[in-house]
Amino acid sequence: MKIGYIQYNPRFGAVDENINRAAVFIRSVSADILVLPELSTTGYLITSLDEIEELAEEIPGGKTTEALAGLARERSCFIVAGLAERSGGNLYNSAVLVGPEGYIAHYRKLHLFYEEKRWFTPGDKEFSVHDLGIAKVGIMVCFDWYFPESMRILALKGAHLVCHPSSLVLPFCQDAMKIRCLENRVYAVTANRTGSEMRGGKRFDYTGMSQITAPGGEILHRAERDKDAAIVVDVDIKKAENKAVNRYNDLFADRRPEFYGLITKEYRF
Ligand code: ACM
Repeated sequence: MKIGYIQYNPRFGAVDENINRAAVFIRSVSADILVLPELSTTGYLITSLDEIEELAEEIPGGKTTEALAGLARERSCFIVAGLAERSGGNLYNSAVLVGPEGYIAHYRKLHLFYEEKRWFTPGDKEFSVHDLGIAKVGIMVCFDWYFPESMRILALKGAHLVCHPSSLVLPFCQDAMKIRCLENRVYAVTANRTGSEMRGGKRFDYTGMSQITAPGGEILHRAERDKDAAIVVDVDIKKAENKAVNRYNDLFADRRPEFYGLITKEYRF
């Protein structure tokens, strides 16, 4: 099956323009599952609560989810994309999963990065895995990668593929994803954005280099830093079901959760 990403440079606040730009890329490839960046239709560098309140959308029902669902239907594929969500008076940094039949699910980022904590409420739902028939997929958003528990729990819940919308500014993630995939034996598609944003006296330079990583830690494709791209690779998704390292070791069967208790407890300084 074919998995891929769209790497591009959303313009802040230009939701219609960004959706149209993503649509051109989505229509340029043939894929089963496509991943778009974090906050893919609003842009990332928020400078006030008012502006993101204005731009956030309901999921399902909002403009971005509806547009992506239309594209998923037209292209017979599944799409995962980051967007700002408004729900019950809260704002979430979310990612939606849509398919040919429309909205399927959405995830609310659990580990908020830097000033995201000023605008968004941290996610309030567990990591979940969705059986699409062709693959079981989990979703995490950008900085979630820094917490190994994110991909571990998705893998333990049966994910073959982790879809990872991102707006990365630190230089570590792409290399770290080799280990995240290796230690969990899953595929991952990290869809990062390109460009820089300069707003409110701040500047973020995004690292591009979107990446498709295999269960053995191999990089199947890594984009350039600055070039927008739509890239799809063919994978044998069932490889993610094999957790064996050798005839004696299995990454899941060999776990010793009875000795990992502290990992599920709140850390106290
Ligand atoms: C990030 O979570 N956008 C770094």
